[in-house]
Amino acid sequence: MTRSNIDLLLSRRSVLAKNLGKPGPNKRELRTILQAGLRVPDHGRSEPWKIQVLDESAQLALGTFSAQLFQRDNPNATAAQITFERERPQRSPILLVVTFQPNKKKLAKIPELEQLLSSGAVCQNLLVAIQALGYNAQWLTDWPAYHPEIRQFLGSGKDAQIVGFIHIGTATLLPKDRPRPEFDDIVSEWKPED
Ligand SMILES: Cc1cc2nc3c(=O)[nH]c(=O)nc-3n(C[C@H](O)[C@H](O)[C@H](O)COP(=O)(O)O)c2cc1C
Repeated sequence: MTRSNIDLLLSRRSVLAKNLGKPGPNKRELRTILQAGLRVPDHGRSEPWKIQVLDESAQLALGTFSAQLFQRDNPNATAAQITFERERPQRSPILLVVTFQPNKKKLAKIPELEQLLSSGAVCQNLLVAIQALGYNAQWLTDWPAYHPEIRQFLGSGKDAQIVGFIHIGTATLLPKDRPRPEFDDIVSEWKPED
C-alpha cells in the first residue's frame, strides 16, 4: 500500500450531509466510485446488493413522499419537522441508496449475515472511493431506511433492506476529528492459555 493510500484510510472522516455542497462527482467520477463500491468481498458471489443513484429531481420526489409519510405517521408534527423531512434527501448533490437484497438461492451455503456484511462493505468502499477522489460523504440511515413504504416507493421488494443513504458532495465545512476508540480497548494479542 502506498503512503497516500494508508493516509487516506487513516484520515477518513464523514462530513455531515447538511454540509455537503456542490460540486458532486461528475458522471465519470461517479462511475468510478460505484465500481469501487462493487469491488467488495462477497462470499460465493452472492451479489446481494443494489445501488440506486438519486439526482436532484429524484431526491425531491423522495423527499416529497417522505414528508407526506412523516406527516401521516406523526399527526402532531410541526411545519419545521415536515420541511426537514422534505429536504432530508436533498442535502447533497448526489444521494446513493444502498439496498441489501438477500440472495435466497445462496442462503444454504452463504448465511444471511455474511451477505449483509458484504453490503456494509459496499457502503464503506463507496465512502473511501469518494474521499479518494476529493469529495466528501456521509452514510446515514434513520427512520426512512427502516420504513417499508419508503422501500416500496424506491421499488425494493419486501425482503430488501436499505443499509445506507450515502450523501455525496464537497464539504462546505470540514469537521474536526472526533474521538476515536482507545486502540488497546479494542485490539489485543490473543494467546492460548498454558
Ligand atoms: C449503518 C450506519 C448508519 C448510520 N446512520 C447514521 C444516521 O442516521 N445519523 C447519523 O448522524 N449518523 C449515522 N451514522 C454515522 C455516520 O455515518 C458517521 O460514521 C459518524 O458521523 C462518525 O463520523 P466518521 O465516519 O467520521 O467517524 C451511521 C453509520 C453507519 C455505519
